[in-house]
Amino acid sequence: MNGVILSMPLDMHLHLRDHEMLEVVAPLTAHTFSGALVMPNLVPPVKTRDAVIAYRKRILDAVEGHNDFEPYMTLFFDASYDKAFLQELRDDILALKLYPAGITTNSQGGVAHFDIETLRPTLEAMSELGIPLCVHGETNGFVMERETEFMTIYARLASEFPNLKIIMEHITTQAAVELLELYENLYATITVHHLLITLDDVAGGLMQPHLFCKPIAKRPQDRAALLDVALRAHPKVMFGSDSAPHPQHAKESCGCAAGVFTAPIALQLLCDIFDRHDALENLQAFVSTNAENIYGICPAFKEVTLIRQPFLVPEKYGSVVPMYAGQTLPWSIGSVQ
Ligand code: DOR
Ligand code: ZN
Repeated sequence: MNGVILSMPLDMHLHLRDHEMLEVVAPLTAHTFSGALVMPNLVPPVKTRDAVIAYRKRILDAVEGHNDFEPYMTLFFDASYDKAFLQELRDDILALKLYPAGITTNSQGGVAHFDIETLRPTLEAMSELGIPLCVHGETNGFVMERETEFMTIYARLASEFPNLKIIMEHITTQAAVELLELYENLYATITVHHLLITLDDVAGGLMQPHLFCKPIAKRPQDRAALLDVALRAHPKVMFGSDSAPHPQHAKESCGCAAGVFTAPIALQLLCDIFDRHDALENLQAFVSTNAENIYGICPAFKEVTLIRQPFLVPEKYGSVVPMYAGQTLPWSIGSVQ
């Protein structure tokens, strides 16, 4: 096949940041995606209805001209939220995002102790209101085991709150793939970089700061498990890029910021991966239909045609170095309608 048409592509985990960075990165996603789930880890985090509404407006201003792009908003989880508070902003958000405190960029205000009783009132309110919970599932244990260690927390949340949709964000391990099968209310997003790289690509040779992210890429068998469910578009998994832009100086420095910037090349890379594995017929479900079903959303019409034509990845977008900067990818965006 030399051309692929994708309808209503969705990126169900995206960092758009704010201000100048937002101006640079938001139009790149709005060009090829119908919608994206926007993460709330700004400084300060998005924790009120006013903050959600104001941030959504700044995003829409930044993507002016792309009327066919919907920023699906999230609220930064806090165990102090009660049902009345959540009810008021129910229609302004698609999900809440829970970060363990300090686990990643701008997550200091996250959950410090996974004491179910402390979390219960908010999680029960979310279940009743039908608001999904997106989770950054890592402990602060040994870096290669952080996600696997978190599986017991996912299992407890899933069994204690059976009516709560829980999305395990950016899964990187075989353990997470296996857990998906055990609880009906567990779902997952998968990034494109975790389908491509392992820890070897990050730190096996010279250190590659632009591939450093949280959760860190894992072992070949973990990548194989992710590829397996993504390529067959398992109905409980969906694409979420976790594209996380940082300025070049914050990546190429001592104390490298975590995040891989893939937004402008995500569809081209996915097309290549699914093509190489003879699975192009499942790409539509992975990049759109599954998310529509899981979240019950109906995005604006957009049709993206990808063509088998070399695409030279720019060295930079503004101050941000993308994954595979300066390299040539086999697939390009042909047209967007
Ligand atoms: O690598 C990451 N970068 N992982 C996250 O969870 C957050 C993100 C960011 O916001 O930079
Ligand atoms: Zn993220």
